Amino acid sequence: MAEQKKILRALAGETQDVPPIWMMRQAGRYLPEYRATRAQAGDFLKLCYNPELAAEVTLQPIRRYGFDAAILFADILLIPQALGADLWFVTGEGPRLSTITTEADFAKLGPVADIHETLNPIYETVKILSRELPSETTLIGFAGAPWTVATYMIAGRGTPDQGPAHALKQENRPLFEALLARITEATIDYLSKQIEGGAEVVKIFDSWAGSLKGEDFRKYALEPCRQITAALKERHPGIPVIGFPREAGDKYLGFAKETGIDCLALDNSVDPLWAAQNLQVDGCVQGNLASRHMVTGGEELVKETRAIVQAFKNGPHIFNLGHGITPDADPDNVQLMIDTVRGG
Ligand code: CP3
Repeated sequence: MAEQKKILRALAGETQDVPPIWMMRQAGRYLPEYRATRAQAGDFLKLCYNPELAAEVTLQPIRRYGFDAAILFADILLIPQALGADLWFVTGEGPRLSTITTEADFAKLGPVADIHETLNPIYETVKILSRELPSETTLIGFAGAPWTVATYMIAGRGTPDQGPAHALKQENRPLFEALLARITEATIDYLSKQIEGGAEVVKIFDSWAGSLKGEDFRKYALEPCRQITAALKERHPGIPVIGFPREAGDKYLGFAKETGIDCLALDNSVDPLWAAQNLQVDGCVQGNLASRHMVTGGEELVKETRAIVQAFKNGPHIFNLGHGITPDADPDNVQLMIDTVRGG
């Protein structure tokens, strides 16, 4: 049977008159209904681990806007937690974790086989969603890429330049590589369970890929993405994978071909006309309206949205932002973006 879902058609390489659309962080603080459900759950992590409420916030933007895809509500930092790291969120500041900088810290992490004990509620959320989503909506599962997850595990927090992770890579490469290997293995099993639960596509978020240069980029961004993709496709033939090596710049070139991913997600810095010529030739691309338009709206939003649709109209394209929507965004601007994509 020919595939009917617009997202899956784009991922299979089909060019469509109106591209499918979804938005990174579409379930989030800019929505009053999200804030209400998060308050009901208690806090962000309790929300992630409550299958009914996590499914509810995943569905909220689908009900409100009719996006073509829903992305599982969870976080890339649940994997470190499932491996045994402490994780908590400081309001207004972001995530905090116990740090890994020595062999002794690393030895405290648990085996990959044990992660599911912690992550079972996430698989339950996936199952609820696969039952409750409208038939035309695609369910996307996700995980962080090993490098990005490692930057948080090493530093114990988000860092502007990923300095602590680069330092460990330089000072104790075997430990750094052992950590990446452990995360890679856990990520394959985690995504595999999401697929078994009903995720139809998975996305790998490498938010800090841009700070890896030269050979490091190849070894620690491209290679883990290739390994994860190959393992998932072996276990689940045909499963489409979206890769997001954010801020990779000219290293976006060839990334889809070399890793075997089906779609390359583009960040704000990538020029759509350049990407149409140099990246879309390898398959589907996703992106890449700057998130700030969701705050500022107006003519600029309409103009930029049309320019992106126009640039990618001759090949497979999934419309999205170049990064997550921010809490100060206006929900009406999201509607304006969708109307512009769908209505011209
Ligand atoms: O896209 C989606 O709607 C799906 C859910 C999702 C979240 N985080 C929910 C979330 C996804 C895919 C992520 C990915 C994620 N998480 C990344 C990679 C993508 C990116 O943005 O670069 C990273 C680096 C994280 C780690 C993380 N989680 C940080 C740094 C923060 C704090 C920053 C912030 O925005 O407050 C989070 C918290 C987080 N994850 C929120 C949401 C909706 C906000 C938490 C809240 O409700 O208070």
